[in-house]
Amino acid sequence: MHEVDLAALDDNVFAQIEAALFRFGVLVFPAQRISHADQVALTKRFGEHGVDAFTDGVDGYREIQPVIREPGPGAPLFFGARWHTDSPFLERPPAVSMLRSVEVPPFGGDTLFSSSRAAYLDLSAGMQTLLEPLQGLYSRTHLTRAMEQWREDPERALDISPIEQDLAAATPHPLIRTHPATGEKALYVDENYTIGIAGLHRREAEPLVSYLISHVTRPIYQFRLRWQPDMLVIWDNRLVIHQAFDDFAPHRREMYRSTVLGEVPA
Ligand code: SIN
Repeated sequence: MHEVDLAALDDNVFAQIEAALFRFGVLVFPAQRISHADQVALTKRFGEHGVDAFTDGVDGYREIQPVIREPGPGAPLFFGARWHTDSPFLERPPAVSMLRSVEVPPFGGDTLFSSSRAAYLDLSAGMQTLLEPLQGLYSRTHLTRAMEQWREDPERALDISPIEQDLAAATPHPLIRTHPATGEKALYVDENYTIGIAGLHRREAEPLVSYLISHVTRPIYQFRLRWQPDMLVIWDNRLVIHQAFDDFAPHRREMYRSTVLGEVPA
């Protein structure tokens, strides 16, 4: 969206932006040289700030999460590089996320979005009915464990498969989510955090989750964002999943994210 100053939005323009977000799932605003304080204020227009599960924010702005990849060896594992929705393991996962670019690499570091609403609509009526009553199981402990193992021994093969304790402690949410503002339905499934389905044996859940992931990430549902500096991108986690690419070494990428606290998924 062009010719919008996100640091100075009146109520009318904000209402149009929110309506566009609920319609399209992702909005891209180029040339927005805004501050952390502006981003905090913009985030608050959508609702209460969500607290990030992975960082404590930047100095002076707990709500602004750095997403910074420094060049060179020893860079931390980049879990954004797998398809995900933001923090579905929380009881109230972020409804909306925004990401602002400061420094972007000369190549790579794109972000992909895939429409979980379009993916839901393309399922057969039979599959929609089958999935409707099911609760997915969402967890991050398998990722945290893999990250710790990798820190201890970066040469070791990465194992991010969940164990039984992860399944027992996982957070259940509906596999088909209904958007609270529009009533539209979308698949709530991702590669990072969806580790099972409540009430199904693991051998039953795994092929179904794996099919749903391959379905929701079909290229036909995707949009690929090539970043420029000073972009601000807003997405609705109830409508899209996303993935970033870790393909820009030896360059630096500096972004700042904020999230809006969501409802308990229904
Ligand atoms: C995220 O996964 O929230 C960040 C995506 C990105 O770094 O492009």
